[in-house]
Amino acid sequence: MENKIIELEHLKKNYNGVEVLKDINLTISKGEVLSIIGSSGSGKSTMLRCINLLEKPTGGDIKYHGNSILSQKFDKNKYRSKVGMVFQQFYLFENMTVLENCTIAQMKVLKKDKESSIKEAEKYLSLVGMLDHRNKKPSMLSGGQKQRVAIARALCMNPEVLLFDEPTSALDPEMVNDVLTVMSKLAESGMTMVVVTHEMQFARDVSTRVCFMNEGYIIEDTDPKTMFTNPKHQRVKEFLKNYLGN
Ligand SMILES: Nc1ncnc2c1ncn2[C@@H]1O[C@H](COP(=O)(O)OP(=O)(O)OP(=O)(O)O)[C@@H](O)[C@H]1O
Ligand SMILES: [Mg+2]
Repeated sequence: MENKIIELEHLKKNYNGVEVLKDINLTISKGEVLSIIGSSGSGKSTMLRCINLLEKPTGGDIKYHGNSILSQKFDKNKYRSKVGMVFQQFYLFENMTVLENCTIAQMKVLKKDKESSIKEAEKYLSLVGMLDHRNKKPSMLSGGQKQRVAIARALCMNPEVLLFDEPTSALDPEMVNDVLTVMSKLAESGMTMVVVTHEMQFARDVSTRVCFMNEGYIIEDTDPKTMFTNPKHQRVKEFLKNYLGN
């Protein structure tokens, strides 16, 4: 189908014989905002890292517009620029300004000229409310501000999909909403997003779809309303009860 972007087919990953992803099947389609929830250690980060080729799967396949990203002839660099990632720990370049953080890959990877890279960076820094901070180094920013810069930096690559791995988990509570507001705005704009999160309100109110991971499997994959009001699995019920109370 035309609007499928990424497909995980029987994806497996083990570390030293320990199976972390056991059999993951998942299709990510254009415009979806997919939240991935589930307990610690269930394999959520590992799955995102496989999608982004930061980890090599040990079985199964990952397809991008129908082509295996694991095949020798697949253009991995181009793929990485199309599939952006935002991490819990931001990973900004500390020796560069906010603006430089947002222009460097445009120039080096996309081979754009400086002027148009700056223009693009300013557009996205403005979107995340960080334009006034463009000349600061990351060390002068709060966690929430750093994360908004990291999101702007990812957007500057004009990605087709953005992956987020617990983007608000390292933030002070007051900063969480600023980042979630930016993410909601992106979701509304039609950005395709996969968000590993412990923010149940975001998963419920902003996502178009929610997956629950447990011990290396996706055990429930449904719309937010069903996930939060009428999940099938006992494990999901218990998890949500712990998070949301009754
Ligand atoms: N590089 C690695 N080497 C060995 N084991 C690993 C490695 N990375 C992850 N694991 C193990 O794989 C399992 C899944 O880890 P993963 O980080 O994917 O879980 P998670 O669902 O993201 O958890 P959390 O909610 O705590 O972030 C864990 O048991 C973890 O210890
Ligand atoms: Mg994780």
